[in-house]
Formats: sequence, C-alpha cells, structure tokens
Amino acid sequence: MQTNPPHKLHVAIIMDGNGRWAEARGLPRPIGHQAGADAVRAIVRSAIENDVGALTLYAFSTYNWRRSDAEVAGLMALLRHFLLVEARQLRDTNVRISILGRRDRLPLGLVKAIATAERTTAACSGLHLRIAIDYSAREAILAAAAAGLTPEALAAQLGTEDVDLLIRTGGDRRLSDFLLWECAYAELLFTEVKWPDFGPPQFEAALADYARRTRSFGGVADAA
Ligand code: IPE
Ligand code: IPE
Ligand code: MG
Repeated sequence: MQTNPPHKLHVAIIMDGNGRWAEARGLPRPIGHQAGADAVRAIVRSAIENDVGALTLYAFSTYNWRRSDAEVAGLMALLRHFLLVEARQLRDTNVRISILGRRDRLPLGLVKAIATAERTTAACSGLHLRIAIDYSAREAILAAAAAGLTPEALAAQLGTEDVDLLIRTGGDRRLSDFLLWECAYAELLFTEVKWPDFGPPQFEAALADYARRTRSFGGVADAA
C-alpha cells in the first residue's frame, strides 16, 4: 500500500529539435526557436492544469555558445522577450520562475529580465518553472560541492527536489549535461517528436506513461 503523501511531480524537459523542425520546412533555424517558445507557453499551461509541482526546461546549455553568433544572439533575444512578456502572466497564474545556470556571460538585457521575472513571481506558490540558461550540470555540481560536500548542502545549492520524469524531444537519447545529480533516479522518456510539435497531448501522454511505471528505488516493488 502507498503510504507516502501524494507528491507533486518534478518534470524536466530537454527541449530539442527546433532547428531540424525548421529545416524540414525549408525555414531558417530561428523560426524553429520561435516556434519552440510558443510550445513552452502551451506546456506551462498544461503543467498547471495537470498539477505538476515543478517544471525544469533546458533552454540554453553551456555548450550552445559554440553556435553561430547570429543564432546565439537570436536565442538570447528570444529568452529576454519571453521573460519580459510572460512574467506578469505567470504571476497571475501563480507560477514562480527561477533561472538556473551562469549569469556572468549573458547579455545585460537578459540578466535584467531574469531579475525582473524572478522578483515579479517570487511570492507565487503554484507551479515552480525553472529555466536553465548557460547551464551545465557538471558546473552546477562543482559549484555546489565547493560550498560543502554533504548531500544536504548539494541539494540546497542545486536548489531542487529530485527529478521524477525527464523528457527529451527531438529523437536523441542523451542527457547533454542536464540535471545529472537531480536525475539520479528519474524515469527517462525519449520521443522523436521535435520540440515545436510537442504540445499538451504529448505532455499528457508522457505523464500517463510515467504513471504506469513502477519505481522501486533499489527496493522491491510492492506486490499489487
Ligand atoms: C533545441 O533545439 C534548442 C537549443 C538547443 C537552444 P536545437 O536548436 O538543438 O535543434 P536541433 O537539435 O538542431 O534540431
Ligand atoms: C540540448 O540540446 C540543450 C538544449 C535543449 C538547450 P543540444 O541540441 O544542444 O544537445 P546536443 O549538443 O545535440 O547534445
Ligand atoms: Mg539539438
């Protein structure tokens, strides 16, 4: 019998496949990133409707600086625009925004938009929306370890609960240095669907898939 109190899920998503989505349509990659931002809005709404506790989105990795200056600048502008436009709307739906990752290499306009979005939504108690920008899990773990090598100190520094379900869109089956510590026991779900095509029906199907899985955490699953 399940004895733990109901636990709200922490879902993490590697939002991959924007570029290929655009290229398949003969469109420039930035159009794919724009479509990806629209997909984020719909998934946040779906996460609220499905009572998800936390949603962590991989928006820009430390390795994504290797892309062309134009693509990087476009992504930075898109992130800034998203935060500026969405902050009030998210506050009105009781969503708290936190940004993970380094800030020292981001354009000043984006750093300011992050501060505003975090401040505007700080008192919200509904969905915790975490967006990873200039993020590397290894760097985050090293920074946390520098502050104290206990699991509690690491958890405090990394600032989150364990991930329950990790979704990667776009067809690749790798973690790309995302939430390595927090995903220690996460259920993994890889889908061929490219991020701009990943909508509420696909998100709800992923939650249903997760609900059918048995998590024994090294123990033995209860006999039904
Ligand atoms: C994910 O889509 C968005 C970011 C990494 C910023 P990609 O831009 O990686 O799209 P693909 O993988 O090239 O299709
Ligand atoms: C992972 O996608 C990072 C984000 C989705 C932001 P990438 O497209 O950068 O990953 P790799 O390089 O193919 O592993
Ligand atoms: Mg990619």
